Amino acid sequence: MNDSSDFAASGPATGYAQSVAKILVLHGPNLNLLGNREPEVYGRTTLADIDAALSRQAEAAGHTLTSYQSNAEHQLIERVQAAKRDTTAFILINPAAFTHTSVALRDALAAVALPFIEVHLSNPHAREPFRRQSYFSDLAAGVIAGFGADSYRYALDAAVKRLAAASQASPHPDLPPPPREGA
Ligand code: DQA
Repeated sequence: MNDSSDFAASGPATGYAQSVAKILVLHGPNLNLLGNREPEVYGRTTLADIDAALSRQAEAAGHTLTSYQSNAEHQLIERVQAAKRDTTAFILINPAAFTHTSVALRDALAAVALPFIEVHLSNPHAREPFRRQSYFSDLAAGVIAGFGADSYRYALDAAVKRLAAASQASPHPDLPPPPREGA
């Protein structure tokens, strides 16, 4: 998928509190097939269409958004690690089947300690029992599932609200939050 971010970029991650924030969207295995893949479960919207809509939504909110899809666990882990270096502020992730299997991808998200929302097109709780287990939900800021391509839209909306609240609390990561009015 498109990934214009600089993997080699270094420097301290500023985390959450940036007025123009970098948002990263990660898509796990088989999501490159969206549009054709079990459309009765995942809908007919392609991944390219989802990513384009998310980019427009992020831009309208004054942020930048990069999307990355991989079928390989290690590539997703590398991308999460790079997010720390490239000052990503927030991650939306649909780990797809890795939701139910990947301690390694979970550990990568725990290691970088960046806020993330877990996204699913389908509602895994309404499907086979093995899909009820997620290695991500307890670390996530929230989980949005079951709304098809709209799950991503709702997740980005929530991320933008979190970013706004965080940047109000601390306009610069190295500065203390401003005093509250009347305090
Ligand atoms: C999915 C749900 C997972 O159980 C499945 O393995 C996927 C997609 C979803 O978006 O609904 O690949 O994450």
